[in-house]
Amino acid sequence: YQTIKKARENGKVNPDIRKEIPKVVDFIDIEDITDKASLCRCWRSKNWPYCDGSHGNLNKETGDNVGPVVIRHKEK
Ligand code: FES
Repeated sequence: YQTIKKARENGKVNPDIRKEIPKVVDFIDIEDITDKASLCRCWRSKNWPYCDGSHGNLNKETGDNVGPVVIRHKEK
């Protein structure tokens, strides 16, 4: 949590994902999503860019309410 707090104090949302590059961009081919894909929006996943549930701890620690975006096929 100290890392997160420090990052926020500096006006940053990303505490440690690929800090060696100037911008984090990920590409996922739609054709590779067979069922659904949950993409992290809290910047705490250890399986970036996919959600690994780390948002749960972040929300507990900070009182926030962040969660993933889920890409899925329409139900037919
Ligand atoms: Fe970041 Fe779930 S781990 S949104």
